[in-house]
Amino acid sequence: LAIRKINIAIDGYSSCGKSTLAQSLAHRLEYDYVDSGAMYRAVTLYALRLGLGESDFQKIIDSLPLLDIDCRWSPSGNTIWLNNENISDAIRQPEVQNLVSQISTLSAVRRFLVKEQKALALQKGVVMDGRDIGTVVLPDAELKVFMTASLEVRVHRRYLELKAKGIDLDPTEVESNLKLRDHIDSTRDDSPLRQAEDAILLDNSTLTISQQLDLVLEWVQEKIQIK
Ligand code: DC
Repeated sequence: LAIRKINIAIDGYSSCGKSTLAQSLAHRLEYDYVDSGAMYRAVTLYALRLGLGESDFQKIIDSLPLLDIDCRWSPSGNTIWLNNENISDAIRQPEVQNLVSQISTLSAVRRFLVKEQKALALQKGVVMDGRDIGTVVLPDAELKVFMTASLEVRVHRRYLELKAKGIDLDPTEVESNLKLRDHIDSTRDDSPLRQAEDAILLDNSTLTISQQLDLVLEWVQEKIQIK
């Protein structure tokens, strides 16, 4: 039996635990990890810094050539860089969170980032998470997982995640933000969030991280063995 490197696409709604699972997988398999959402957040952060908002679409699109976005993955963790500045924390702020879905509807932004994302996965051995990875970015990924979890579980997870960062939002506010993002992400015209036909559905509402990892590693095993 020969072992080959594959690409793994992980898509799903906000706060389903995609990045936790994707990073655990990358560690275990010694693969690269690419957080595609962080790239949309980087564009959003840049726009906010220019004082641009929801209605300044053309100016945001015009600024794309000025952006050098770099995703760096190492055993010590994931960082994202914008023009050589580490923006890993800045892109998690509520201001970015509240605008990123709107900016992600822009086709010019998507074309720009999808091109980079495809290039990052050319060598194989990449775990990439996002909304359109299995459908648009890596339609040939050998393994595609579509993650979901109950809204209640997701709100609770996001609430704890924000709290750990010192951001104390009301759970009802967290819930409305999640619902709004889900709505925008799944109803936009350009590459909306949807499960690819060949993606495996993973509902992790009642699964621990290690249970999810075991399950997906089994699926990986089936794909990496060339008989
Ligand atoms: O995964 P995340 O929450 O960091 O993603 C932030 C936003 O970026 C999400 O609301 C929609 C957008 N996004 C996208 O449109 N396509 C992707 N592949 C990843 C994220």
